Amino acid sequence: MRVAIIGTGYVGLVSGACFSEFGFQVTCVDKNADKIRALSKGNIPIFEPGLEELVAKNTTQERLFFTQDLTSAVETADVVFIAVGTPTQHDTGNADLSYVFEAARELAPALKGFTVIVTKSTVPVGTTRKVQETIREAAPQADFDMASNPEFLREGTAIADFMRPDRIVVGVESTRAQEMMRTLYAHLAQHHVPVVFTNFETSELSKYASNTFLAMKIAFINQMADVAEACGADIQHVSRIMGLDARIGTAFLQPGPGFGGSCFPKDTRALAAFAHTHQVPVSLIDMIDASNEARKKAMADKIIAACDCSVRGKKLAILGLTFKSNTDDMRESSSLVILPLLQKAGARLTAFDPKVQATSYPQLQGVEVALDIPSACHGAEAIVILTEWEIFRSLPFESLKEIVQERRLIDLRNLYTPDSVAHAGFRYVSLGRPTH
Ligand code: UGA
Repeated sequence: MRVAIIGTGYVGLVSGACFSEFGFQVTCVDKNADKIRALSKGNIPIFEPGLEELVAKNTTQERLFFTQDLTSAVETADVVFIAVGTPTQHDTGNADLSYVFEAARELAPALKGFTVIVTKSTVPVGTTRKVQETIREAAPQADFDMASNPEFLREGTAIADFMRPDRIVVGVESTRAQEMMRTLYAHLAQHHVPVVFTNFETSELSKYASNTFLAMKIAFINQMADVAEACGADIQHVSRIMGLDARIGTAFLQPGPGFGGSCFPKDTRALAAFAHTHQVPVSLIDMIDASNEARKKAMADKIIAACDCSVRGKKLAILGLTFKSNTDDMRESSSLVILPLLQKAGARLTAFDPKVQATSYPQLQGVEVALDIPSACHGAEAIVILTEWEIFRSLPFESLKEIVQERRLIDLRNLYTPDSVAHAGFRYVSLGRPTH
């Protein structure tokens, strides 16, 4: 079976590499000539653990190819994935579908023989059907069926998520398309991964519902951390106790400085916007984005309060800039909101992030980027943990003690226990736990 993937962003690239690992012939298509040139030489534009090795292996074994030539990739393919970006439209909050429809119009004339066209990008309910109409209009004679196949990959663990997913969701309306998709995922079905076949609309909505629910879980635990703080409870224990109830589950109950990334904020807004368009009241969903934005601002206030209520003229060491660990992705990272607020309050900031050597983000202008933890912490009045990178779990307190101005750790990921930090000789402020 031959697969074409349009769009070599995060989803397209990971899916392409993994399908080729299953043994399929995969061609990844992108308009960006520089990107295709780089990928063909094995240079991966994003950091994702294991991806470079997987691409190198499957390119060498001639199962994975990169091209700008959409026509040749599509005409030889049995299955074509549309995996282009669907960014937020800033005025409405809706997903911008222009790249999806552009891909549909471009691939239509290239279709040869029976082909399944799959929407892989996260698209609002109804899009797969509209893509079908678009292709039908552009190529009335083409022999094709549609499928919707949302992805549930997390950045940082995307390969493992693809290879051992909790479920595969496929929206289809024909037996031919269903059989083709079944063959594509047979490898995973053999490992007892549930494959749920449903209609287009259910498949599309299930992706938004899953992401929005997880975002809501985080927004909930963040608010609960504030409540814990106000009443002397320990949020880590509350999370654990809640999670032990199988109906709730342990995942995504870790408080933090607000969720970020290219998915939760965008998808939560898009689902709310979609519901509004259809006059469906979704007050619960409306609140998620608002509470997350408020969370980021509250975290800046928390840092200022922890620094004796003023950061004016003080140097702060910021550990972590990316929206989560194991990625170089800065999209919607809480650092992009918290750091400017600290600067506005007069702080001087030096940041260290294992994957960000320099940053051109306008929000981070004036933030010095250090190349290691000690350089970031030298002369700091507080060390602030923003991202849960593994190396921040074992900070060299003994040596840091000698170079910081104030022995103060503000941990917005609860990587430490209050006792361990007190033992190391630092004052400690964390989320939803008694302060030492
Ligand atoms: C998310 C979903 O988890 C994936 O299932 C989905 O496929 C993906 O979006 C997508 O739609 O493409 P991702 O954005 O890579 O994946 O990252 P997550 O691990 O979900 O984390 C999102 C944000 O929530 C991060 O800022 C993270 O730090 C934060 N988070 C996560 C918490 O603050 N607390 C938690 O307990 C978990």
